Amino acid sequence: MEQFSEIFNKLQSVIQVVGTDISFPQIVVVGSQSDGKSSVLESIVKNGFLPRGTGIVTRTPIILQLKNVPGDDRYAEVTYDLGGREGMVVRQLTDFNEVAFEIQTATAKLAGTSLNIVNKPITVVLRSSDVPDLTLVDLPGLVENPAGDQPKDIKRQVGTLVREYVENKNAIILAVHQATTDLANSKSLNLAREVDPEGKRTICVVTKLDLVEPVMRVIGVINRSQTNSDNPRWTNADQTREEEAFFRKYKKIAFDHGTKVLSDYLSMVFREHIRKCMPQLKNGVDELVADNQAALEALGKSIADEEETGTTEPDPQRVAVINVINDFCRFLRGSLEG
Ligand code: GDP
Ligand code: NA
Ligand code: MG
Repeated sequence: MEQFSEIFNKLQSVIQVVGTDISFPQIVVVGSQSDGKSSVLESIVKNGFLPRGTGIVTRTPIILQLKNVPGDDRYAEVTYDLGGREGMVVRQLTDFNEVAFEIQTATAKLAGTSLNIVNKPITVVLRSSDVPDLTLVDLPGLVENPAGDQPKDIKRQVGTLVREYVENKNAIILAVHQATTDLANSKSLNLAREVDPEGKRTICVVTKLDLVEPVMRVIGVINRSQTNSDNPRWTNADQTREEEAFFRKYKKIAFDHGTKVLSDYLSMVFREHIRKCMPQLKNGVDELVADNQAALEALGKSIADEEETGTTEPDPQRVAVINVINDFCRFLRGSLEG
C-alpha cells in the first residue's frame, strides 16, 4: 500500500511535466448531457468546485489529479495552455471555493463564451486530507443535437473528443447513466461497449435513482430470453435455476451502493490498474527519455557534456523533464524487479 502511494506520487509528477503524451492510467467519466457526471465526480472529490448545472457546462476535458495528504492544509492548482504569446496559465489556490471560478474562466478562454467545446484540457491538482488518490477526467456530455449556438457537427466533435479518452487502454471508463432513461439506449454504455466489449475496464454508475423512487415495492425478475424461448428443451425449472443463479451472483452488488462504496471501489480498482499498467508504462516512459535525449543531442548539447565541462547553460526545463522521467524510470524498474 505504501508502495502504491509512492508510485502514484511519481506518476503525477511525470504527468505534470510531460502532459498526457503517454497513455497514463486515469478514470474517464462519460455520459450524456446532464446525466450527472460532474455531480458524481464532485461527490467522490467531496468538494463542490466543479462547474455543474442543467445546461452545457463541461466544455473541455478537466483532468483532476487528486492527492490524499495528511493535515489541514489544502492546495489547488489550475493549469491550462492558451498557446501563442499567453502560453501556460498556472493558478495556485488554497481556497477550494475559488477553483470553480478558475475552471469557468479557463473554459471561457479555451472554448469561447458560446456553447462550443474544445479538446484542450484544464488540469486541476488538489491536495487535501479528504480526497482519495485518483486521477479522474470529466468530459463534455455526449449530445445528439446542437443546442443554442453550437456548431452543427457538435455530436461528432464531442464524440471524437470522448472517444480519444475512452480508447486509451489504460483508462478505466466510468459510464454514467441516469436512471430515468432506458439502459438499452444509454450512449455512454454503448460507447463503452464499443471500445471495451468485455467490460473489463468499464464501471457503470446509475444516477438520479431518487427520481424513479417507486411508490410501490419494486421486484426485479429475469424472464426467458429469446434464446431460451427458442430452445424447445428449456424448462421452467431451468429458467428458475438461471434466475436464482443471477440473483445469487448479484446479491452482494444489490446491497452495495452509494458514493462511499463507489469512491472506495474506484480507489481499489485504480491501484490494481496502475500495478497492471506498470511494465507498459515503463516502456512508454523509456521512449520519452530517448526522445528527449535525442532532442537535446540534436541541439548539440547533451546534459552529460555540460555537466562535465560546465560550459554552456543547459535548458533548465528540459533538464528538469529528463530528471523527473529518469527518476520515474529508475523507480519503476526497481518496483518491477522488487
Ligand atoms: P453532467 O452534465 O453529466 O455533468 O451533469 P451534472 O452533474 O451537471 O448534473 C446535471 C443536473 O442533474 C444538475 O442539476 C444536478 O444537480 C442534477 N443531478 C445529478 N445527479 C442527480 C441525482 O442523483 N438526483 C437528482 N435529483 N438530481 C441529480
Ligand atoms: Na451529462
Ligand atoms: Mg458536467
